[in-house]
Amino acid sequence: MVKAGMSNPHIHPGFVGQAGIAISPACRVAPPRPSVEREKAVEELTIHTIPTAVLGASGGIGQPLSLLLAISPLVDELSLYDVVNTPGVGADLSHINSKAKVTAFLPEDGAGLERALTGCDIVVIPAGIPRKPGMTRDDLFKINAGIVRDLVTGVAKFCPKAFVLIISNPVNSTVPIAAEVLKAHNVFEPTRLFGVTSLDVVRASTFVADVVGGCPTQYTVPVIGGHSGETIVPLLSQISPKTDIPSDKLDALVNRIQFGGDEVVKAKDGLGSATLSMAYAGFKFAEALLKAKTQTGIVEPTYVYLPGVPGGEEVKKAIGGDIDFFAVPVELGPSGAVKATNPVPNATDYEKALLVKCYEGLKTNIVKGTEFITNQASKKRELV
Ligand SMILES: NC(=O)c1ccc[n+]([C@@H]2O[C@H](COP(=O)([O-])OP(=O)(O)OC[C@H]3O[C@@H](n4cnc5c(N)ncnc54)[C@H](O)[C@@H]3O)[C@@H](O)[C@H]2O)c1
Repeated sequence: MVKAGMSNPHIHPGFVGQAGIAISPACRVAPPRPSVEREKAVEELTIHTIPTAVLGASGGIGQPLSLLLAISPLVDELSLYDVVNTPGVGADLSHINSKAKVTAFLPEDGAGLERALTGCDIVVIPAGIPRKPGMTRDDLFKINAGIVRDLVTGVAKFCPKAFVLIISNPVNSTVPIAAEVLKAHNVFEPTRLFGVTSLDVVRASTFVADVVGGCPTQYTVPVIGGHSGETIVPLLSQISPKTDIPSDKLDALVNRIQFGGDEVVKAKDGLGSATLSMAYAGFKFAEALLKAKTQTGIVEPTYVYLPGVPGGEEVKKAIGGDIDFFAVPVELGPSGAVKATNPVPNATDYEKALLVKCYEGLKTNIVKGTEFITNQASKKRELV
C-alpha cells in the first residue's frame, strides 16, 4: 500500500516527489507535425501551467475532478488532499501518462494540509458531505461549514494568493464563510474567490436542448443568483444564440434547472448527489481560469463577492443594493475575476419575479455563512 509520505516501490525512484507518492515523468513533447491541431496541442503543453490542489480529492466529485485535472495539459502539478484514501487515488492517477506530477496527502497530524497547499496557485474544494434524499443544500450547512472554514484557513496560511474555487455546498453560504476566513487573515482578494455554479449552467444548456432540440453545447444560458433551488435564476430570454422557449414549457424548464440536482439525488437513492456531472462542471470552470492566464475574452458565470470585483457594484445596485454575493457571468483574466457583467436590467418581467424570490433566500444564506465565522470570532473575544 502506498502512503503519503512514503515512496511507492512500483514507481521509478527518480520520479518520487518530495512529499511522497507522486509521480509521472515530465512530459516529453513530440516534434510537431504539420497539422494545426498538433501545433495547438504542443503550444498548450508549453504555455503557462499551474500547480493545482484538490481538497476532498477522494470523494465522489474529488476523484473524477482530479482525473480531469491530471490529464489536462494546463496542469503540471496536482496535489490531492483528503482525510481518507488519497494515497490510493494518488497512486492510481500517477500511472496516467500525462504531464501532471501527482502528489497525495492525508492530514498527517496537521502537516498534510500545509504540504498539500504550499506553492499552489489554484485550490478546488469539493470536501464535505453530499445531500441525501429529503435534504436541502442548506441542511448540509452544519457539517460543511466547519470543513470549509478549516480548509480555507489552510489556504490563508499556506497559499494566500491562490484562486479558491468552492464546490462544497451550500455554496450560497460556504463562499461567504471562505470570504470571512480570508478577511480574518488579512488575505481576502475578492477577485480570487469563486463559488462554482457551473453545474447550473451545464444543466441549463442540456435541459434547453431537451426542450427545443439541437446539441446542448450550442446553447449558452446565463444562470445567475445563487446555487440552491429558487436562488438559481436561469435567464432564458438571454440564451445565446437567441432561442425561444415555448411559453407552455417555460415553468417546467425553469423548475428543472433550479431543482435538477434533486433528480440525481433521487436516482442515486441515498448514495449521494451529482458527482460526475459536477466534476465535469468544476473542471470546466477551473480550466477556464487556467486558460484565462493567457487568453482574453473568457467569461463564465460564478458566485462572487460583488463589492470586490470590477463591475460588481453595478450588479449589486441592480439587485437592490443589499446583497454582496451573487452569481453573474464574469470575465476571467490572469489575476482572476476581471469584470462582472450585469444581465439584470435586460431580464424579462417573468425573470424579475424569479429574481425577487432568489433575493429572499440568498440574503438568509449569506447571513448564515457570514455569521458562522463572525459569531465564532466574537465568542473568542468574549473568552479572552
Ligand atoms: N457546487 C455544486 O454544484 C455541487 C454539486 C454537487 C455536490 N456538491 C457538494 O460537493 C461536496 C462533495 O460531494 P461528494 O459527492 O464528492 O461527497 P463525498 O462524500 O463523496 O466526498 C467528499 C469528500 O470530502 C472528504 N472530506 C470530508 N471532510 C474533509 C476535510 N476536513 N478535509 C478534506 N477532505 C474532507 C471526504 O473524506 C470525502 O472523500 C458536497 O458538499 C456536495 O453537496 C456541490
